[in-house]
Amino acid sequence: AAIMKGQFDHFMQKEIYEQPESVVNTMRGRINFDTRSVTLGGLKAYLPVIRRCRRLLFVACGTSYHSCIAVRGVFEELTEIPVAVELASDFLDRRTPVFRDDVAIFVSQSGETADTILAMRYCLERGALCVGVVNTVGSTLSRETHSGVHINAGPEIGVASTKAYTSQYIALVMIALQLSDDSISKEARRQEIIDGLHDIPAMIKSVLMMDKALQQLAKETLAKEKSLLIMGRGYQYATCLEGALKIKEVSYMHSEGILAGELKHGPLALIDEHLPVIFIMTKDSLYPKVQSALAQVMARKGQPIVICNEDDATIDPAVRTIRVPSTVDCLQGLVNVIPLQLLSYHLAIMNGVDVDFPRNLAKAVTVE
Ligand code: G6P
Repeated sequence: AAIMKGQFDHFMQKEIYEQPESVVNTMRGRINFDTRSVTLGGLKAYLPVIRRCRRLLFVACGTSYHSCIAVRGVFEELTEIPVAVELASDFLDRRTPVFRDDVAIFVSQSGETADTILAMRYCLERGALCVGVVNTVGSTLSRETHSGVHINAGPEIGVASTKAYTSQYIALVMIALQLSDDSISKEARRQEIIDGLHDIPAMIKSVLMMDKALQQLAKETLAKEKSLLIMGRGYQYATCLEGALKIKEVSYMHSEGILAGELKHGPLALIDEHLPVIFIMTKDSLYPKVQSALAQVMARKGQPIVICNEDDATIDPAVRTIRVPSTVDCLQGLVNVIPLQLLSYHLAIMNGVDVDFPRNLAKAVTVE
């Protein structure tokens, strides 16, 4: 059947708005919210092998790579297995050592990205267990991996990935939850995360309601700018990278995601009264550190926009804020990425870009 835009002007917009449903589809039949348990059918037989592996290797490109960065911390915490996250091209360039007792997880919306497929074959040849986290059923990656999880986000047409990101993120969190369900010491944390996942669709919906305000913000503060930094750390580093990628892909504005911990090692030199900086500053254990990065930017007359929690009363009232609901720290990125997706969409429209088909880019990069 033809995939229609319906009430929306672009597929990207439709796909952003689909997220309250697409994330439910990712969890459907896999999370039982009553018993607070996770069952991923495709992985079941391999759980003992994965739990005993020497290393978890995540390999992906583009947005899919960012979803791996987003879940790295929660994988390390719940599984206590060393985790490496690799860009497929660089992983291949380095001829990275891979062993039979490694488990390699390949994340791809299309399942057809050439670099990711080549990295998978490289790992297969070396005897690693290969797991695919893929949206497209029947794709090369889903056929050639030993096992995997389909993210069930539904077809994504817009070249810039949006709903695949949130669904990949959730699929990966579910893998970490299932891998750790033999650990009693992790039980309370697992239950907290599962409860958090239950409320994510409603939270995404409430952030989507801010669309008009975000459009206004884009028009007033960002549309005429040449460049934009997005800063944060910890769980939000991935959100910075993904927000910056969305903005450069569809609005053609230069944008960079910056780890706030690296601010003093270079990016601070860019700060003046002109360059816009978005801070991602939702409440988690690193909040005081991001607060101090914000203070340093303001001391240099920077003009920040702060993504913070709804009830955050500590931010200078003169600073522009984007206020989002608060969830479990490792899931907050699912909420925080939504305003950045919407901002990138509006910036693209204001710049006259055909958002579904930005110049020079392809939905699936099937050549090396
Ligand atoms: C291209 C697309 C991106 C996507 C990346 C990885 O660059 O434009 O949106 O994130 O490929 O694609 P994959 O299908 O492997 O997730």
